[in-house]
Amino acid sequence: MTAHPPQWHILGAGAIGSLWAALAQRAGNPPAMLLRDGHRLADYQRGKGIIFESGGQAEILPVQAQSPESMQSPIAQLLVCTKAQDTLNAISAYAPRLTPDCTVVLLQNGMGVAEVIHRHYPQLRLLQASTTEGAFRRGDFHIVHAGRGETRLGDIPGISTVSESHARAVATSLSFPPVEVVYCDAMTEILWRKLAINCAINPLTVVYQCRNGELLDNPTALQRMHTVVDEVLTVARRLGIDLGSDLHQQVVAVASATALNRSSMLQDAEAGRSTEIDYISGYLCRQARELGEDTPESAALYAAVTQRHPAGAN
Ligand SMILES: NC(=O)c1ccc[n+]([C@@H]2O[C@H](COP(=O)([O-])OP(=O)(O)OC[C@H]3O[C@@H](n4cnc5c(N)ncnc54)[C@H](OP(=O)(O)O)[C@@H]3O)[C@@H](O)[C@H]2O)c1
Repeated sequence: MTAHPPQWHILGAGAIGSLWAALAQRAGNPPAMLLRDGHRLADYQRGKGIIFESGGQAEILPVQAQSPESMQSPIAQLLVCTKAQDTLNAISAYAPRLTPDCTVVLLQNGMGVAEVIHRHYPQLRLLQASTTEGAFRRGDFHIVHAGRGETRLGDIPGISTVSESHARAVATSLSFPPVEVVYCDAMTEILWRKLAINCAINPLTVVYQCRNGELLDNPTALQRMHTVVDEVLTVARRLGIDLGSDLHQQVVAVASATALNRSSMLQDAEAGRSTEIDYISGYLCRQARELGEDTPESAALYAAVTQRHPAGAN
């Protein structure tokens, strides 16, 4: 008898969560999507599943979905794909169903969420993943896999209590063609480089209300972008994190490669939704404050974005 691979429960059925859910379903490892409430479950059940578009082809994948009220079975593996500021509320709604040693993978941008979750649920086996796959929602439960990237997964120093072999097995079990999740033993550097990119691009797109690439054509915005990168480098250096010597070039390269994108922070701000600013510039500023460092440009961007819409509070 062959053992069934453990089922993944996917919390946050937006662009990234639906991408993983669709790929897992297609690969023959049916996941369960965990929705916010019974209303969202009813919305989902009015259709036939996730509409998944990739390479110009669309298919409907009948992924199973649950709400906190409908969910009865235990959750041993949880992939969290909510925005950073929604994570604690989302996990709390399903907390009664989490097994005592549940493995929880945070697949999100921003930093500082793991600390919040660990404070509330110290028993969970937390891992962090970071992806540069690109996906967007064309409609409700209708997503487009728009760009290929890389996904890395590893432990969170000081928080994870997961053996390397378990983390490697988790990375493998979250790999569904064409996406491969690669185990990484240097997640701190990966997360800080991603933080730098997010700190240097996303809030500026809100301030200048522009696409990523337009920041490169605006000398003031470009100067501010480089100032933010210098601030991230200073804070990281004080924390003993080596971000290499090419961070300025990488940030410019990302803004250029994603020139036509409207950042998710800009989209959230324009739609009047909360943004991930507390876990991006806010995280950097908190780290800086604890070290007695000044990050005036990041602080100004944090203030500018939060004035438009108060950041979510976890
Ligand atoms: N999209 C990308 O290409 C991309 C690439 C790299 C990294 N990321 C990161 O990945 C994370 C997810 O991004 P995304 O683009 O997938 O965001 P998204 O499309 O906004 O999806 C977030 C999902 O979380 C759900 N949610 C919010 N609160 C919830 C709750 N209490 N319970 C259950 N579900 C809840 C939302 O539900 P509703 O549908 O009910 O609102 C939504 O479906 C973010 O950290 C983002 O920065 C995204």
